Amino acid sequence: MHTVPCNPSIAIYPGSFDPITNGHLDIIKRAAKQFDRLVVAILNNHNKNPLFTVEERTQLITKVVEDLPNVEVEHFSGLLVHYMENKEANVIIRGLRAISDFEYEMQIASTNHKLSDEIETFFMMTLPQYSFLSSSIVKEIAKYNGSVKDLVPPAVEQALLQKYKSKD
Ligand code: PNS
Repeated sequence: MHTVPCNPSIAIYPGSFDPITNGHLDIIKRAAKQFDRLVVAILNNHNKNPLFTVEERTQLITKVVEDLPNVEVEHFSGLLVHYMENKEANVIIRGLRAISDFEYEMQIASTNHKLSDEIETFFMMTLPQYSFLSSSIVKEIAKYNGSVKDLVPPAVEQALLQKYKSKD
């Protein structure tokens, strides 16, 4: 049988992930089925003053995706397109929760496409049960001692408890 050689497909799922939520995890699981490799790329953004350090976020996501063999976790700083050029990747995955995400996502996707016309952004619709969910909402709930049990993976719930306990 004649087989056509093809390069393994690789997609990048970038974000702040401060922290990763069940909504992010759902996108990771679904995207990982569509590509040979999926790299979760955490933005190491010094301006944003994150709750979790980039090392903590890397550890948490690595734990959460440990059963997904084609998912890797990395972090980057600077421009996403430069990081992607280094990895020879040209697909970005982003989740869309609601119409309110559209303008922000359109801006990022258009900017990245302008910076490199090889880059394509693929949008995936978030499941309805996660359409309200964001890292900020999760932090707000955890900060005031609400339960985030169904919103984040157990390792993240523990990490949030620890974080806010140590901030008291
Ligand atoms: O989870 P977020 O914070 O919505 O993710 C935004 C992210 C990390 C995808 C975006 O801010 C990004 O790629 N930043 C890196 C800097 C960059 O490449 N900027 C140009 C495109 S906006």
